Amino acid sequence: MATVVEPGFDLADIAFWKKPLDERNEAFKRLRAMDRPVYFSEPKIPMLRSGKGFYAVVRHADVVEISRNPKVFSSEPAVTSPPPPAWVKTVFGDSIVNMDDPRHARLRRIVSRAFSPKMLNDLTDDIQRAATRIVDDVLREGPRDFVEQVAARLPITVICDMMGIPEELREKVHRHVDVSTAYTGVRSSLGRTIRMAASNVHALFELQRMVIKLGHERVRNPRNDLISALVNANVDGEKLTDKELGSFFAMLLVAGNETARNTMAHGLRLLTINPDQRELLLSDFDRYIGGAIEEMVRYVSPIIQFRRNVTQETELRGVTLKPGDQVALFYGSANRDEEVFEDPDRFDITRSPNPHVGFGGPGPHFCLGANLARKEITIMFRELFTRIPDIRTVGEPELLLSNFDNAVKRQPFTFGKG
Ligand code: HEM
Repeated sequence: MATVVEPGFDLADIAFWKKPLDERNEAFKRLRAMDRPVYFSEPKIPMLRSGKGFYAVVRHADVVEISRNPKVFSSEPAVTSPPPPAWVKTVFGDSIVNMDDPRHARLRRIVSRAFSPKMLNDLTDDIQRAATRIVDDVLREGPRDFVEQVAARLPITVICDMMGIPEELREKVHRHVDVSTAYTGVRSSLGRTIRMAASNVHALFELQRMVIKLGHERVRNPRNDLISALVNANVDGEKLTDKELGSFFAMLLVAGNETARNTMAHGLRLLTINPDQRELLLSDFDRYIGGAIEEMVRYVSPIIQFRRNVTQETELRGVTLKPGDQVALFYGSANRDEEVFEDPDRFDITRSPNPHVGFGGPGPHFCLGANLARKEITIMFRELFTRIPDIRTVGEPELLLSNFDNAVKRQPFTFGKG
């Protein structure tokens, strides 16, 4: 069990992440007021955690500064905690989020092809088609769970469309996503962690095999899809290796799926419990939706934290950080920093400026999928509010117990007289 009690609570203790969101927000407010990074030691778990701990970075200016400075605050060996074991990296390849330059710059150059304005434009019809089908199904089935029926369906369909995954293989992709979703979150025991890791690894193997096979096919017969763009060399001769293709796809499924889905699920609830904001949005959807999405991402902060690893001695608000120390960037706390956001606990779709760090701080790792996420959420909400204008959530969401992923497992909803 972690021991630091200085602020009266312990971010490294699973019990903290079971507290209601309001209480957690209050704790981060107190941490911000302390005006220095507080250290939390983590329990030692054989093979998983060193028992070293992390400095909590909770101020907006610090998250920005650290994200901009990868030489001192490195993403290697990993930004998640616990880091993936070394053998996972060897077998499956490393993920772009866990790399520094020059490896990071090369990979980012190649995979940026996926997110060019042209690629995004080409996806518009696919996203619209998927959104229309989702709303057709909701109207036919009636409302039960917004996550299952709407929010979880769109992002994964878009990623499969984007990559060019054939229909018959999509079931396999869904299964992988279900397994890896279960794997994120606070791991309570070594046994449970190992069981989950084993099924995760199995799903990853299957997925990697499938994508690599598709990659080989697309080298022989290129199509107008992302796999073809990534496995065939560009003018500079750059392309992904088999292993890189597999790990990029697995990363997209986690990075691009959970985040967009949770923004939509929390977003519908925020619009429900703030009827004035909903009315404003519906009064002129195209005018307000851009600001509404930025405010949802700020307010929700779908990624709770990513870490950085200190490479050389440096100082942060009077605290000396040493090589090997870890800092945890708490995006949700930075996004409610009262020095930057007026009345930060208010959900305000007209907030301007809104320099939130929900997509990461400015720097080399800023979210590659931000514009795709904005587009998906815009199209999905437009379809919903046009065809079901009185759609609303009912009651509280069921949240995933996690210190990483601000995920909604279930969100009941209704429309009509419901
Ligand atoms: C609301 C939705 C989203 C949120 C809140 C979000 C959040 C983030 C954050 C915080 C990072 C920064 C990592 C760091 O600094 O270490 C990141 C990186 C990344 N995101 Fe997103 N993301 C979202 C949607 C997406 C989507 C839809 C995709 C793709 C389909 C995507 C792909 C990526 C990739 C590839 C990176 C790694 C970039 C790099 O390391 O260079 N994200 N995202």
